[in-house]
Amino acid sequence: MNEIHQACEAFRTLLEEQLARIANLRADKIDFSSKPVVTVGVIDGDGIGPIIMAHAVKVLETLLADELAQGSVVLKRIEGLTLENRMALGQSVPADVLAQIKTCDVLLKGPTTTPMGGRMESANVTLRRELDLYANCRPVSIPEKNIDWMFFRENTEGEYVLGSRGVELPGMAVDFKVTTDAGTRRIARAAFEYAKNNGKTRVSIVTKANIMKKTDGKFTAIAHEVARDYPDIAVDDWYIDIMTANLVNEAIRDQFQVVLLPNLYGDIITDEAAQIQGGVGTAGSANIGDRFAMFEAIHGSAPRLIEQGLGAYANPASILKAAAMLLRHICRADAAARLERALEGCALTVDVGASTGAEYAEAILKAL
Ligand code: IPM
Ligand code: MG
Repeated sequence: MNEIHQACEAFRTLLEEQLARIANLRADKIDFSSKPVVTVGVIDGDGIGPIIMAHAVKVLETLLADELAQGSVVLKRIEGLTLENRMALGQSVPADVLAQIKTCDVLLKGPTTTPMGGRMESANVTLRRELDLYANCRPVSIPEKNIDWMFFRENTEGEYVLGSRGVELPGMAVDFKVTTDAGTRRIARAAFEYAKNNGKTRVSIVTKANIMKKTDGKFTAIAHEVARDYPDIAVDDWYIDIMTANLVNEAIRDQFQVVLLPNLYGDIITDEAAQIQGGVGTAGSANIGDRFAMFEAIHGSAPRLIEQGLGAYANPASILKAAAMLLRHICRADAAARLERALEGCALTVDVGASTGAEYAEAILKAL
């Protein structure tokens, strides 16, 4: 059958591309504590993006006023990562936008809308791949419930890397999931290093290796291999289904510390964890690679909020948490701590009938 032949040829190309990708993975870490100029790219995004980003930029300008004046930190506005522009050009991240992004060290990015179906890849997925942002770190903390979780989600492989490259035959569709030794090793290393450097004693590996035997089986095996270098850290394995239950099981959930997972499971469970913390509007997200890093809210562009004329109630807490993570990443620990304290101390609820996002941002600025 001609269709099968074509699909096999397409699959061959995918395999070759993936092997080439892992052959070219390189680590060239930046030392931000000694870098004379740190360039922070600022990208608004779509929907509520420009609204919450305006608050975040104001906060960064306040916290970094001296450094911005001296030029040791530069905020560089990057235009053109809008849905209209991406659709008009037929590129998930337009080439000139990507070129500008690559002149920056780190990015603070508002949410971008992904059209459902079609071939247009999510801008997030493109950026994570093009900048090789392999570690998606998502903290969730609820001190009064003794919850302090850090999720390490693999961010460049799994169901995502070929998510827009599946094949369709008459009456059937097939997508691909990719897990590599090198890709798993570096995310596992990141999780265990984080645990070691932050006094954590346990890393939980979460997969569905009983079903996805090849890919998740590899993920688990390699993660355990890496774990052997960290004899003081306890390791346990869970399947993703029971892990989603564990997070709402008050008898055991506060015992989890660092959670290590492949891409799609990490996507799903971090929304659940964020909801337990108070909603997806309350959680920040760091996409870390060796050369670049991108910080964003965990949530999407909330087009429904905009359609209903409720953009003023978009919660900037999530992007502000991401901004605090960015500051830590570029070794601005004092500024990060000031922002974290202000966020922890802010009791305002952003919602219709409660506070607007602008009121929340004002309160944070005052508390800095
Ligand atoms: C996230 C988002 C993204 C993802 C979307 C926007 C592609 O849900 O960052 O969790 O699925 O990774
Ligand atoms: Mg998600």
